[in-house]
Amino acid sequence: MAFAISTRNAVAILVTLLLVSARPSSSTLQQDFIHCLVDNTDMAFPIRASFFSPDQNATLFKEELESTAQNLRYLTQSNPKPVFIFEPLYETHVQAAVVCAKKLQLHMRLRSGGHDYEGLSFVAENVTPFVVVDLSKLRQIDVDLDSNSAWAHAGATVGEVYYRIQEKSQTHGFPAGLCSSLGIGGHLVGGAYGSMMRKFGLGADNVLDARIIDANGKILDRAAMGEDVFWAIRGAGGGSFGVILAWKIKLVPVPATVTVFTVTKTLEQDGTNVLYKWQQVADKLDEDLFIRVIIQPAGKTTKTGNRTISTSYQGQFLGDSNRLMQVMQKSFPELGLTKKDCIEMSWIKSVMYIAGFPNSAPPEALLAGKSLFKNHFKAKSDFVEEPIPVEGLEGLWKKLLKEDSPLTIWNPYGGMMSRISESETPFPHRKGTLFKIQWLSTWSDGKASEARHIEWMRDMYSYMEQYVSKKPRRAYVNYRVMLESGGLKYSDKDWLMELGGR
Ligand SMILES: Cc1cc2nc3c(=O)[nH]c(=O)nc-3n(C[C@H](O)[C@H](O)[C@H](O)COP(=O)(O)OP(=O)(O)OC[C@H]3O[C@@H](n4cnc5c(N)ncnc54)[C@H](O)[C@@H]3O)c2cc1C
Ligand SMILES: *[C@@H]1O[C@H](CO)[C@@H](O)[C@H](O)[C@H]1NC(C)=O
Ligand SMILES: *[C@@H]1O[C@H](CO)[C@@H](O)[C@H](O)[C@H]1NC(C)=O
Repeated sequence: MAFAISTRNAVAILVTLLLVSARPSSSTLQQDFIHCLVDNTDMAFPIRASFFSPDQNATLFKEELESTAQNLRYLTQSNPKPVFIFEPLYETHVQAAVVCAKKLQLHMRLRSGGHDYEGLSFVAENVTPFVVVDLSKLRQIDVDLDSNSAWAHAGATVGEVYYRIQEKSQTHGFPAGLCSSLGIGGHLVGGAYGSMMRKFGLGADNVLDARIIDANGKILDRAAMGEDVFWAIRGAGGGSFGVILAWKIKLVPVPATVTVFTVTKTLEQDGTNVLYKWQQVADKLDEDLFIRVIIQPAGKTTKTGNRTISTSYQGQFLGDSNRLMQVMQKSFPELGLTKKDCIEMSWIKSVMYIAGFPNSAPPEALLAGKSLFKNHFKAKSDFVEEPIPVEGLEGLWKKLLKEDSPLTIWNPYGGMMSRISESETPFPHRKGTLFKIQWLSTWSDGKASEARHIEWMRDMYSYMEQYVSKKPRRAYVNYRVMLESGGLKYSDKDWLMELGGR
């Protein structure tokens, strides 16, 4: 009979119709979004120029999507793409974007500097359709020496913030990240550590006020959002507690002369014992001194397989080299630092040294916002509360030597980090932490070898469990890991463990 459609079929047809109507083309969605924006703001300029979609110009869309994306793993063809990218020029645009995304039921991803480890600022898995609101055109920075503070908009990089401060004064600085291309928006909201953390704490510890947009599109400052929300945005991680429009940061004093150095020890140069000693002193050193250790295999893989491990001690000292030599002779003579290893420079040049710029690069290079590190990578982190014994280190060397391009960076705590209570902000890694480890594996052949590298990471991470923080095993929220990635599933237990903290 003609009309004998079963209930099941009717439901299926209805669902299909709903799905079809719920999935208009990207250009229709963009049209609706633009109409909504116009209704919600008084925009008197060609707003279309702020939109990038594959229908409009696929090449340009790809360029914009890739512009600040750090982890190339999330730019492959199989990663879901936003229906469009919106780059607001004014705060009112961001307010309207929040209202309109909600109204049109578009999932919104926010991007400031694009450094998210798991691409969360430009990829959304299993939530379609989604759009990216990219704040890179909101990057105004106003430094005010009279009040010892600055307002920095979310799309500015930390390098630009450092540059604008030193432009006004050579004796002011800010204690945030080591890598100059990080977006200040997504960076401070997860904590933000750098080479001055032992003296001044995290970037988030030096936030005085903020302007955020809530779920209703309202702009709130510290007084309006209240102390609970103001607490949460200083370390709980990006994309959770509203849109950060701008931060008011407190400037810190830096000396006119700063000293940097890099001293490398291989295993043949007693590297293991020196590192064992570093673990005992790194958190207790003079607070003007920060020495991180960058560890990776070195030397060619020969038939005899004699790759070694290189441990590079990279230091920044807030003072001149004479005083640094005294501090080192007293506290860490095992490293064998000599006056010849020490390079004196301005604070801004020391920031650039640590960020990896060549010595000849002028401070203006910080304004280019260029990332020096774009790769396919997987990262994890750990916090260490007791020195890892020599046999633990030796086991780790064996693991590192098995992987193509592993890298691990050990970052000292202590000083100011120990004096801030663990409930002061959502960043709980304070007293009792000797150092933080970042684990990395990078590769360049895309998906081809991904599974192998992730497998290696898991094996190494499981080996290290016995030597690091326990119950919970802690991790840094700004080095976040995905529950599920590229079909490789983490168990819920792993996820909870990795979230760690409180
Ligand atoms: C090469 C490299 C070096 C790094 N070095 C350091 C370091 O020295 N110290 C350190 O502490 N960390 C470091 N990190 C980690 C870094 O702090 C985080 O990746 C941080 O989230 C980057 O901020 P972003 O704005 O660049 O990232 P994005 O990818 O733009 O954003 C990160 C997250 O925050 C959300 N978000 C972005 N903007 C906003 C906003 N305005 N309001 C609310 N949520 C937002 C995003 O949706 C995403 O979930 C490094 C990362 C990389 C890739
Ligand atoms: C699309 O964008 C690219 C890259 O910016 C540009 O070179 C090209 O002319 C654009 N194409 C059209 C049709 O506008
Ligand atoms: C590796 O072995 C070769 C040949 O024996 C030797 O020349 C080289 O110096 C060794 N490299 C390291 C890093 O030990």
